[in-house]
Amino acid sequence: MKINSSEFIISNSDYTKCPKPDLPEFVFIGRSNVGKSSLINMLTDRNKLAKISSRPGKTQLINHFLINNNWYLVDLPGYGWAKVSKTEKAKWEVMIKDYFENRENLTLAFVLIDSRLEPQKIDIEFVNWLGTNGVPIALIFTKADKQSKNKTDSSVVKFRKTLATTWDQLPPHFITSSANHIGKDEVLNYIEDIITTIE
Ligand code: GTP
Ligand code: MG
Repeated sequence: MKINSSEFIISNSDYTKCPKPDLPEFVFIGRSNVGKSSLINMLTDRNKLAKISSRPGKTQLINHFLINNNWYLVDLPGYGWAKVSKTEKAKWEVMIKDYFENRENLTLAFVLIDSRLEPQKIDIEFVNWLGTNGVPIALIFTKADKQSKNKTDSSVVKFRKTLATTWDQLPPHFITSSANHIGKDEVLNYIEDIITTIE
C-alpha cells in the first residue's frame, strides 16, 4: 500500500470522544520509548506527524490519524515508564483498557517490542492481556538498526518462544527500523491485505 494522505484528526483521553467508528482502525502500542511515534512517521513518510522524543512518556493521549481517507491509524501512550506517578499510571490503565475493550472498529493492534532486549515481562503480560480480550495482534520488533541482524533474529526467537508457552498460534511479526526504513512495505502491505478482506 502507498500512503497518499495522512491527516491528524484528534487527541483525547476518552474512547467515546474518538472519531465515529466507521473505518477500520489499526493501533500502535508498546513500552514507552520503544519507537511507536517514530514508526508511524516512517510508515506515513511524514517527519512530524506523530510527536517523538528521546524522553519516555512523550505521547500522552489517544491520537487518531486518517490515512488515505480510508482507515484510522492510532498512536497511543506507552506503558512501563518507570518515572510515572501512581495516579498517572492508573489514568493510563483506565484510558487504555476502555479503548481496547470498547472501540468497536478496532481491527488490529501492533504491539511494538524493542528488538535489542530479552523478553520483558511487561510486554508478555500486555500481549497476553490483549489475547485474553480477543484483540487481534501482530508484533513489531523495533530499532533493528541498533544491532546486528543475528542479534535481532535471536531476540525475535526468544520472544516467540516465551509466547509459545501460552499461545497456541503465534501472532505474525515484523522487524522494523524507523532510522533506515526497514519493514515499511511489509507492515503497510499487511494492513492493506486486512482492509481488503474486510471490504
Ligand atoms: P512514547 O510516546 O514515550 O511512548 O515513546 P514512543 O514509543 O512513541 O517512541 P518515539 O517514537 O518517541 O521514539 C523514542 C526514541 O527512540 C527517540 O529518540 C527516537 O528517535 C528513537 N527511535 C525510534 N525508533 C528508532 C529506530 O528505528 N532506530 C533508532 N536508532 N532510534 C529509534
Ligand atoms: Mg510516542
